[in-house]
Amino acid sequence: MDYRSQLMASVTDARYRQKDTSDQNFDYMFKLLIIGNSSVGKTSFLFRYADDTFTPAFVSTDTAGQERYRTITTAYYRGAMGFVLMYDITSEDSFNAVQDWATQIKTYSWDNAQVILVGNKCDMEDERIVPVEKGKSLADQLGFDYFEASAKENINVRQVFERLVDIICEKMSESIDSDPSRGTSGRSMRLTDNPPPSQQNCSC
Ligand code: GTP
Ligand code: MG
Repeated sequence: MDYRSQLMASVTDARYRQKDTSDQNFDYMFKLLIIGNSSVGKTSFLFRYADDTFTPAFVSTDTAGQERYRTITTAYYRGAMGFVLMYDITSEDSFNAVQDWATQIKTYSWDNAQVILVGNKCDMEDERIVPVEKGKSLADQLGFDYFEASAKENINVRQVFERLVDIICEKMSESIDSDPSRGTSGRSMRLTDNPPPSQQNCSC
């Protein structure tokens, strides 16, 4: 059976949190975060995935880049097993910030957290600033998977989450293979079995 059909992913961006705890029919629950500069489309991406809707004007929900929210932010990273690191293909600044976001992930999250780099707004080809090749090569350099996507046109949204879940599950299997005491099948392994260690440099 496809484990994805049994999976309830808890997908979170800066403030929005969706967790359908009324549906207990799942084997694993993963905390995933969508991060990236303001306006890259994180909320839109999440709404497209969760509700299959798109609203042209969202109120900014981005707190993560602001210094006064740093304590919340570091706490937020804790326990995340996967990240969608997003930039906007029409914004060079958002692309230039990817490296910093990747450093944040490395600093504050679990070592085995999986990351997918997403160049959003690929429907805006006429305003493209970041070539596909540049996105790909940065992803290669950082060791991340890479997609271009559009929350607006519903391009690669589901695929990004499915790939993220796939690579998290691959990582879990590897960890069971290297330490069989954790269980003979992935089904016996739960998120609570392998919590990320608390960070020594976490300010909260
Ligand atoms: P913060 O909450 O400020 O961090 O922004 P965000 O990353 O959540 O971005 P948001 O989803 O609010 O989108 C910002 C703007 O980009 C909105 O006007 C969206 O309608 C638009 N937008 C988001 N995704 C796409 C997309 O795939 N294509 C196009 N053309 N516009 C998009
Ligand atoms: Mg937002």
